[in-house]
Amino acid sequence: MIQDGKLVAFATETVYGLGANALNPVAVAKIFEAKERPHFDPLIVHLCDQSQLEEFVESVSETAQALVDHFWPGPLTLVLPKRDLIPDLVTSGLPNVAIRIPERDSARELIQKAGVPIAAPSANRFGSVSPTTAEHVLDGLEGRIDAVLDDGACDIGVESTVLACPADGTATLLRPGGLSLEEIEKVIGKVLQLDPNQNRDDSPQAGPGMLSRHYAPSKPIQIVSSLQEIRDCNGKGALMMGSHETNQFEVVENLSPSGSLVEAAANFFAALRRLERTNIDSIVAMPFPNEGLGRALNDRLKRAAAE
Ligand code: TXA
Ligand code: MG
Repeated sequence: MIQDGKLVAFATETVYGLGANALNPVAVAKIFEAKERPHFDPLIVHLCDQSQLEEFVESVSETAQALVDHFWPGPLTLVLPKRDLIPDLVTSGLPNVAIRIPERDSARELIQKAGVPIAAPSANRFGSVSPTTAEHVLDGLEGRIDAVLDDGACDIGVESTVLACPADGTATLLRPGGLSLEEIEKVIGKVLQLDPNQNRDDSPQAGPGMLSRHYAPSKPIQIVSSLQEIRDCNGKGALMMGSHETNQFEVVENLSPSGSLVEAAANFFAALRRLERTNIDSIVAMPFPNEGLGRALNDRLKRAAAE
């Protein structure tokens, strides 16, 4: 199906992706159509083997090579100078291409058997909650895609960490994700951060995960530092981890009662979907500790809560 230019959703260790042959612009265009995704949002190209890298990118800095050696396959996407072979539609006309090798065996097997790199954004409608099961994929895209390769639930549950790695050897965090900043900095030292005051929505570099409103459920979310702040809990659901006084809320999603960020990440998007399906009016959420996967979770929460 991939070779025929069709759309196949597949599991990765992070979230389900909506895949098409990255070298076929017509197939890639179908991804944008199925997701109703604006064309200024570049896609990640998925490979199955490091040896394919030089075919698609112009240069790999020493920094980028160290990251490849340590973390691929895995939840890390590198934005590298692209070769002409990569269609402009994949990169939204940018001179760089985002590449990763997923860790999930079935994903690499799909890419290997297809014999082409696979462009894949998360397999959901643009701006909505990301899918971590095949069922979530069908909830949003049934009838719009050709197949979904069901390989159970995703292990990590939040998207890959995206780093820009230009030829000058620097590394800049574009999106916090499934690989923590702490682990990355152990290997390459200080990672540069984008200016948080810059309005990302206006920048051509801003991919979808960088838009201020994204990953958003159909109910409003309010982020609070303590659940006790909420006096009137009528019609409200709570989203948090750890132990808190919650019996005043109509519905409670505790992502990890023991306070594990890894467990919380794995449950995050599925819990938002369950809250969407209840009859509550709005969601009250507690921020996560800003370390490890907590950074990625806070990032998703902030965007999901944005007006
Ligand atoms: O875990 C993941 O990354 C999943 C799975 C399926 O691999 N994919 C995913 O794709 O989350 P998507 O399209 O939802 O997010 C792609 C992100 C965007 O936020 C954007 O910032 C970045 O990748 N990106 C892609 N191409 C880029 C480019 N050429 N320059 C800068 N950023 C780019
Ligand atoms: Mg996405």
